[in-house]
Amino acid sequence: MPLTTVTTIVELRHALDAARAAGQRVGFVPTMGYLHAGHAALMAAARVDTDVVVTSVFVNPLQFGPNEDLDAYPRDLPADTALAEAEGVDLLFVPATAEMYPDGSVRTTVTVAEVSAPLEGRSRPTHFAGVATVVAKLFAIVGPCAAYFGEKDFQQVAVVRRMVSDLSLPVEVVACATVRESDGLALSSRNAYLTADERAAAPVVHRALQAGRAAVEAGERSAAAVRSVMTEVIGAEPRADLDYAEVVDAATLQVVDPLVGELRLLAAVRFGRARLIDNVGAHVLPVVG
Ligand code: PAJ
Repeated sequence: MPLTTVTTIVELRHALDAARAAGQRVGFVPTMGYLHAGHAALMAAARVDTDVVVTSVFVNPLQFGPNEDLDAYPRDLPADTALAEAEGVDLLFVPATAEMYPDGSVRTTVTVAEVSAPLEGRSRPTHFAGVATVVAKLFAIVGPCAAYFGEKDFQQVAVVRRMVSDLSLPVEVVACATVRESDGLALSSRNAYLTADERAAAPVVHRALQAGRAAVEAGERSAAAVRSVMTEVIGAEPRADLDYAEVVDAATLQVVDPLVGELRLLAAVRFGRARLIDNVGAHVLPVVG
C-alpha cells in the first residue's frame, strides 16, 4: 500500500476503524518529525509486528516550555514523507496545530505523578504533562494499537506506560533500543543544532554514561560515586554544560543508594543551543546469603 498523508482526525479515525474492522492490527509511531534512523527503527518494528502502520508528525507546543525551542524546532515534511514511505508506513498523520488544538489551548491535561518528577521533570517542569496530554489525545484518535517509543527518551516511555496503565488505554506500549551514530552519539532531531565543534564533542555524553556503567559493573555501589564518574567525564569537555547525570532505579526512576537491581544511568547536557539527553542500562545482582 503506498503512503497516504492524512491531515484530519476524522479521516484518520475512519481509515483505522475500517482496518480494525477488517481484522488488521494497527501499529502507531508518534513523532515530532525531522525523522532520522532512530524514528525509522520504530517504524520498521511496527511494520514487522502489525498490519497497518501509522506515523504522526506533530510538533506539540504543549510540551515546550516558554523559553524552549518550539519555533526553532527543525521541520522537513518532504524528507519525512520520503523516510516514512521507505519504511513502509501506510498512513502519515500530519495535523495542523489548529486541528489538534482548535482553541489554541486545552483545558484538560494529563499529568503522571512521581515518574514525571525527577530528571527531565526537574529541568523541564511542564514537559511531561505536555507529552502525556498529546500522547493521550493521539491514542484517542488512533484507537486500539501497539505504539512504538524509543528508549532514547527513557523517562518518556515510563510516563507513557504509567498513563496507559492508570487510564486503561487500549494500547500496547513497545520500547525500542536507542539508535546511535558510530561514535556513540544518540540520533536526535536536535543534533541539527550542533556546530561542527559541538558535534565533535557531543559523544562525550555516551562516553560518560558508559564510564558510569563500567563503574557499576566493576562493583561500585554508591550512587554518588557513579554520579561523580559521569560528571568528571563531562567536565573534561569544555563545550559540554552538564544539566544532570544520575543513576536511578529503572522502574521508579528514583535514586537508589546503595545501587541494586535494574538501574538506568541518564544524562542531559547542553552544547551551545542544543540540549541533548541519553541513557544506558546497568544491572546489579542482589547479594545473596
Ligand atoms: P520525537 O523526539 O520526534 O521522537 C519520536 C520517537 O522517536 C520517540 O519515541 C523517541 O524516543 C524516538 N527516538 C528518537 N531518537 C531515537 C533514537 N536515537 N533511537 C531510538 N528511538 C529514538 O518523543 C517525541 O518526539 C515526542 O515527545 C512525542 C512522543 C511524539 C510526543 O509529542
